[in-house]
Amino acid sequence: MGRRRVLSGMRPTGKLHLGNYMGALYNWVKLQDEYECYFFIADYHALTTDYEDPSRLLTNIFEIAVDFLAAGLDPSKSTIFVQSHVPQHAELNLLFGMFTPLSWLERVPTYKDQQEQLRDKDLATYGFLGYPLLQSADILIYQPEFVPVGQDQVAHVELTREVARKFNQLYSPRHLVTGADKMATEEIDPQRKILPEPEVLLTPSPKLPGIDGRKMSKSYGNSILLSEHPESVIEKMSRMSNGGQRNPQTEPGEPDICPVGDMHALFSEKDVNEYVRTGCRTAAILCSECKAMAANSINLRLAPIRQRREQLEDSPAQVWEILEAGAKRAAARAELTMQQVRDAMGLSRVRRPVADERLASRSGLDYSAPHDLSGHADWWNIPDPLVRARTLREKWLHGIVPSEIALSRDSDQVYVTRKGKRVYVSSSLEGREDGWHFEAVVKSYELMVLLCWDSTYLLHDFVIPQAAFVGPWSLLKKVYKKEKLPFWVERSENRFLLKLPNAEPIDITMYRGQYRPMN
Ligand code: TRP
Ligand code: SF4
Repeated sequence: MGRRRVLSGMRPTGKLHLGNYMGALYNWVKLQDEYECYFFIADYHALTTDYEDPSRLLTNIFEIAVDFLAAGLDPSKSTIFVQSHVPQHAELNLLFGMFTPLSWLERVPTYKDQQEQLRDKDLATYGFLGYPLLQSADILIYQPEFVPVGQDQVAHVELTREVARKFNQLYSPRHLVTGADKMATEEIDPQRKILPEPEVLLTPSPKLPGIDGRKMSKSYGNSILLSEHPESVIEKMSRMSNGGQRNPQTEPGEPDICPVGDMHALFSEKDVNEYVRTGCRTAAILCSECKAMAANSINLRLAPIRQRREQLEDSPAQVWEILEAGAKRAAARAELTMQQVRDAMGLSRVRRPVADERLASRSGLDYSAPHDLSGHADWWNIPDPLVRARTLREKWLHGIVPSEIALSRDSDQVYVTRKGKRVYVSSSLEGREDGWHFEAVVKSYELMVLLCWDSTYLLHDFVIPQAAFVGPWSLLKKVYKKEKLPFWVERSENRFLLKLPNAEPIDITMYRGQYRPMN
């Protein structure tokens, strides 16, 4: 099993301030080591309120991406991407719209609140009403266990759970359960629930005051940005409210009711924090000193972030590349869910032989989907190709081959089925240009299993019956005799083509996950 998955997003509304950082980003950075994380920039959501003027959207996306990366989100640990680069979000949102009652959306508290607060905008739109439904799609498409958000998003995750429940009720596979009275009833099969209900991972959002002492917020104009210049931090902190105390300065004060005291509690080292707290209560320090020390603490915390920012701002192409690579990985994961969702809602694109379809639904395995091996991404780097191939074959044998199939080992790459069919198994990692490259000694096999691991860590397993390749294969046998025969699997659009030298390509798409001939 891979690590537990979490997902969260943020709208790109401009440069992040310390409040956004302490309330979300700081927690996300810490989650990266424990969870499989998906973090995204919710640009569709930004358009639900700012549709009239999208001119700053692209800049805002870039800026928040730089903030993410500078603050320590690490593309080698987490999948970081832009929502609209993964259009599956929009597709799932559309499908959810089919069965979500309007009343569920109208009663989400943020709907009326926001309309009140943003009175200068016309938010009597379909898109704005659908804001939390799109968020449900964002979340459920990654089938995560947790959604790390602040208190203000809890209602949205609640709605997400309701949407998942209704989806499962309508479309998840069912099985028969026999009750105490011997009566069988149909119930959702908990093992095969398509959309698990995620839970909120309430992240600590400490009270973070702005310069004027109110909550730090972009709309109050009282914030300190994550990208704030050090001099500017000093200047802003020198103007920070002290809660109206120590007037005159010879009087003692109480740091626990002072916004500057709050800043020390969050950003200062223990000894500094203790020094100013005592100094304040005994009137031993001036407020101006205290504020300068708070500014210094903030600047120390921001220094490494600033350093990374400078480097990123110098190479915007690198930032966009990170987002592109993230979108590719996210889309591959999202597509896994979408295949299940489309299948369940009658929209499946893959045409499977009817018999196999029945077998698939009977044994509860979705035979046509690739397998997500992102939990084993490190195998990609195993230096010895033989060891790597063996590792993949073992994974295939013990984790992918349906359990009702018994295979015995014949030689390193050859297995024998219960009925004595010989199965040749070979694996390959996706190369840069021509897809997957294989080599084989040309012998007779009843079945050939090709394991194609792609660059998004999906493993495509093709079980190809002899009949599909025997023609060119037997010709090539004469040519290649003792030598190894090179061949390729290439992907074009959504098809997979097997290419043998001097032969017509063979479409093997329909053999993905088709284990029936091994029974
Ligand atoms: N609504 C969230 C906010 O305003 C942003 C968001 C969009 C989000 N989709 C999400 C957060 C999915 C968590 C999960 O902050
Ligand atoms: Fe606030 Fe510091 Fe002044 Fe005390 S000394 S009132 S904590 S600014």
